[in-house]
Amino acid sequence: MAEIYDDLIQLKAHLERQRELKNSGVLIEKHNPENALASILQELENCQRCDLGKTRNNLVFGKGNPNAELMFIGEAPGGDEDLKGEPFVGRAGQLLGKIIGAMGKTRDQIYIANILKCRPPENRNPKPTEISVCSPFLKRQIEAIQPKVICALGTFAAQTMLNTDTTIGRLRGRPHPFNDTCVLVPTYHPAYLLRSPSKKKEVWDDMQMIMKLLDWKTPAKSA
Ligand code: URA
Repeated sequence: MAEIYDDLIQLKAHLERQRELKNSGVLIEKHNPENALASILQELENCQRCDLGKTRNNLVFGKGNPNAELMFIGEAPGGDEDLKGEPFVGRAGQLLGKIIGAMGKTRDQIYIANILKCRPPENRNPKPTEISVCSPFLKRQIEAIQPKVICALGTFAAQTMLNTDTTIGRLRGRPHPFNDTCVLVPTYHPAYLLRSPSKKKEVWDDMQMIMKLLDWKTPAKSA
């Protein structure tokens, strides 16, 4: 365990240096995540780039702090999210909210999005064509927010983000390089935790690793 934490400290220092280098470049226009997100959202208005546009009630863009250090990325909106137009508001979302609370944060301090912005009918798996038209918008959201850590929730998000077919059980437990300034930490999806509560310990280990990467203190337990 101590070795993992030594590696994390080195990784953190490396990412910090990369971020400083990136920001020391000549900026013609100051980066403004709010504006960048607003213009991506505008491009998605009435989106019909794939067939999910015909069946959705609401497009689920993503929600949270445009300056978040941490982004959670799930698979696709379910029924509750489709009705509300917000990510992770159903049962799995309530559990995600508890996980965020256990990290000492609120939803409006982080940013939550999905690989797909529209609900697949009957919550079926996303199709490759849907991913290829939708994921460039997620990539642009990541560029706008510039999080330090992305937490991919579940097999589908982790495999899509890392472009691999390795199982989530093998991907989780360590940070993966994602881009110059950010790492990706895969973990189990909260919907899977609802079915397999014994996996909560592994998820909490992953959250502690994220907190270490971000220098977040573990909140004191309330009585
Ligand atoms: N599951 C997901 O992957 N995303 C949501 O927004 C809700 C449930």
